[in-house]
Amino acid sequence: MDSYHIRGGNKIRGEYRVRGAKNAVLPILAASIVTNSQVELIGCPDIADVDNMLEILRALGCKTEKSKESIVVDTATINCSVIPDRLMREMRSSVFLMGPLIARCGEVTLSHPGGCEIGVRPIDIHISALKTLGVSIEEADGLLICKGSKLSGACITLTFPRVGATENAMLTALAADGETIIKNSAREPEILDLQNFLIACGADVTGAGSDTIVISGRHDPFKRFHGTGHTIIPDRIEAGTLMAAAAVTGGKLFLKGAQPSHMHAIIEKFKEAGCFVWEYTDGIYIEAGRRLAATNLVTSPYPGFPTDMQSQFLAMMTTAEGESVIQEAIFENRYKQVPELCKMGADISVSGMDAKIKGVKSLQGCLVNATDLRGGAALVIAGLMADGTTIVNNITHIERGYDKLDKVLNSLGADIRGITQPTGTV
Ligand code: UD1
Repeated sequence: MDSYHIRGGNKIRGEYRVRGAKNAVLPILAASIVTNSQVELIGCPDIADVDNMLEILRALGCKTEKSKESIVVDTATINCSVIPDRLMREMRSSVFLMGPLIARCGEVTLSHPGGCEIGVRPIDIHISALKTLGVSIEEADGLLICKGSKLSGACITLTFPRVGATENAMLTALAADGETIIKNSAREPEILDLQNFLIACGADVTGAGSDTIVISGRHDPFKRFHGTGHTIIPDRIEAGTLMAAAAVTGGKLFLKGAQPSHMHAIIEKFKEAGCFVWEYTDGIYIEAGRRLAATNLVTSPYPGFPTDMQSQFLAMMTTAEGESVIQEAIFENRYKQVPELCKMGADISVSGMDAKIKGVKSLQGCLVNATDLRGGAALVIAGLMADGTTIVNNITHIERGYDKLDKVLNSLGADIRGITQPTGTV
């Protein structure tokens, strides 16, 4: 699909079952490689990033089967440790395959990963962690050639608590003889989900969710690990995005399955902005207040406010009463949607990693371009509250990480048409 045509003004209300988390399913799919067996993942979102990861797994020799919300991967037939360059460039998460392929094959060849253009996104922290475990890494012709068949457990201290680097270190440590301690690890719920999956496969890992993770590893872990079934945790960013859609349209929404314990920082900011939020064991209910109030926020690693919700919250603040200041502390380039929001009438000024948003009375629909996944979702939120019709182009960015966002929002009262241009038209 190429664009969304959104007629603004409809309230978002009803009930929606939150899909499995993109940021949990991707590393777990990569981790399936350490099992030498069949794993079944339940509750997977149907998104382009998952399809890309499955294509990479097939290119490595795995068998994959996708049905409604569940995926079966059989890694017994893996016969290659070179990640094709084209697929590597499709998405950042391909970097998660470094650890599992080293654990399984003793080597991996890959190029620098792609993904959203929201910052420089180096992988130095991943590389440093792997080297600490004994992996040798050489760069030649733009490729990273990583080798390590006799790894030893070690103490790794991450310079920053980064999610992907923590997960890569955990997965590589499975094949390192002895105990590995990862200090200053990221604490995101998706890392705990990865740990739970690994334990179900027979691994000895503790501490995920805290800043210290301990892995007891052995050479050739795939000879001991077995397949398993695993249900993916709910996507806190999908839930937060839909909360923003309800908040800007004066709606009411029950997000079935959303985990309040994963979303404290997000829920607090919605409350500060004037929304009413109720937390239940089986979901979150949100009701918009009369008019949103300006709210400041700073993004930070979990349990702080997630950078992946910053763009959507910024879109919400465009019509809030007063002036909000947002500080993006993780990515250098996460305001690419701001000029598009300004086209719609928003009053935003950006200085470095800070954005100042002066709330305006209303936005006007116009033609805008999605520049990245969450920035694209922010434009959809703006379109839902704007007067008239908003056309959001380049929605392939949105499809990378949201499972049929147009259909989901339509089922909750929105008026969105997804348009595919006939081939050959401009
Ligand atoms: C994960 C999430 C992503 C989220 C991000 C930050 C997944 C699949 N993706 O990505 O949605 O936006 O956390 O919460 O889980 N950095 C380095 N060196 C490194 C690694 C990272 O400098 O080796 C920096 C990057 O430049 C960037 C920040 O750390 O500024 C986050 O980097 P990134 O690697 O994209 O985060 P992930 O942990 O992979």
